[in-house]
Amino acid sequence: MFDLSKEELLFLVWNYSDIITVAVVSIGVTFFVSKAWNWRREKKGDDQIPGRLGLPFLGETISFLSATNSTRGCYDFVRLRRLWHGKCFKTRIFGKIHVFVPSTEGARRVFANDFVHFNKGYVKSMADAVGEKSLLCVSRDSHKRIRRLLSDPFSMNSLSKFVKEFDNMLRERLKNFEAGKSLVVLDFSMKLTFTAMCKMLLSITDESLLRDIERDCTSISNAMLSFPITIPGTRYYKGIKARKRLMKTFRDIMTRRRSGKESPQDFLQSMIQRDSYPPNEKLDDTEIMDNLLTLIVAGQTTTAAAMMWSVKFLDENKEAQDRLREEQLSIFRNKPEGALVTLEDLNNMSYGSKVVKETLRMSNVLLWFPRVALNDCTIGGFEIKKGWHVNIDATCIHYDPDLFKDPMQFNPSRFDEMQKPYSHIPFGSGPRTCLGMNMAKVTMLVFLHRLTSGYKWTVDDLDTCLEKKAHIPRLRSGCPITLQPLGGGN
Ligand code: HEM
Repeated sequence: MFDLSKEELLFLVWNYSDIITVAVVSIGVTFFVSKAWNWRREKKGDDQIPGRLGLPFLGETISFLSATNSTRGCYDFVRLRRLWHGKCFKTRIFGKIHVFVPSTEGARRVFANDFVHFNKGYVKSMADAVGEKSLLCVSRDSHKRIRRLLSDPFSMNSLSKFVKEFDNMLRERLKNFEAGKSLVVLDFSMKLTFTAMCKMLLSITDESLLRDIERDCTSISNAMLSFPITIPGTRYYKGIKARKRLMKTFRDIMTRRRSGKESPQDFLQSMIQRDSYPPNEKLDDTEIMDNLLTLIVAGQTTTAAAMMWSVKFLDENKEAQDRLREEQLSIFRNKPEGALVTLEDLNNMSYGSKVVKETLRMSNVLLWFPRVALNDCTIGGFEIKKGWHVNIDATCIHYDPDLFKDPMQFNPSRFDEMQKPYSHIPFGSGPRTCLGMNMAKVTMLVFLHRLTSGYKWTVDDLDTCLEKKAHIPRLRSGCPITLQPLGGGN
């Protein structure tokens, strides 16, 4: 494509000399203005953390967007700056100063002071998309109450019904899959987790309604980190439209429940049963709807991506795959024929749990956890100013060779030993710890059980490129595999 002869090159330079001159001059001016700006900041004394802030507002936004838009993924932006400036560095993106905090001590400081000295960065598009009453957006007091009222169905004890239903659904879908045909794990896991969550939350099983809701949730999810501009065709615009449709769907379901036309025992029903409780013991309708949406958006893509990575890592590490299969087959063979997986079975999957942990360590489904400093403070000896964005760099911590020996190696047995506090944080920590942590773990365990006790597989496309513009790292191929049944009657 760029195989130009000398003559062609001269022709291009000649014809486009105006444009080239303007470009060179602009780059030069930008460079000197940015140097002067940084020099001014240094003089003011707020430059203790290494890194480049660049021009006001613009900063390194273009490099960030270009990494996000590449198949290396947006963490490449962070990886390069760690090489240039060291593990803890600062940058400016979309006019905000961001500091990346790469240590367990830094993570502890931020998590332990969540809501007190740090808060989630308020992004307008996020609140517009998931709703102001979402757990992701509310203030400290509302967060405490809403989280308490949402928590029960996600406790380990309450998940036994979900485990059976999920197992049943997974088993049927795998059985119906034509042997020898390629299965794209990401597509499969996205549909599966979405259907299972909608069943658990709202008892929706109608295929066409499910697909409508899924389409709207995807548009809303895409709008969460988009530029909030209401112009038809933009991600934000599509997301806001989708939100309106989805809220109407939720409201219609709630009206039918209250009229007594439907009363299935699910998450929504447990919320509606509190209608006559005092205000601090129930959620109002907007809180219910915003958080139904939040749970779906926060739970589907994360869990589905983690499932995809587990297949990829196990394919590359046959020893771990064989050991996992041995454990899962012994559980499978000890059960009556056709029996579904129970919570007790999951408790016996000791190696399986380590595979889940190692998958989450290496895949870093959420690459870093963003906060804003509410006051001036110091982290790891570095001064942080009020209003700066502080990102706990979970990826850097998970790949730190001082915390995890041979960090690039997929080795579930490393979890035979206790890990240092705050070294394994795929679900965060503190008051904002992932609400769906147990649900994600059981989902992954059941998936690994059915997959390894029933099948062997080969990965059909070894491309390691990541999907562009995705804030959760996922293979752009979606990890297509061919399944070979083991023939044990799974
Ligand atoms: C492998 C799957 C998952 C991963 C890796 C994951 C990771 C996380 C992390 C790291 C946080 C905290 C973010 C922060 O501190 O800024 C979080 C929060 C959250 N997650 Fe998950 N999650 C997963 C699955 C789920 C599922 C299945 C659900 C629900 C069905 C869920 C619901 C939530 C909610 C509601 C929050 C916000 C909690 C709050 O602010 O109080 N997640 N998740």
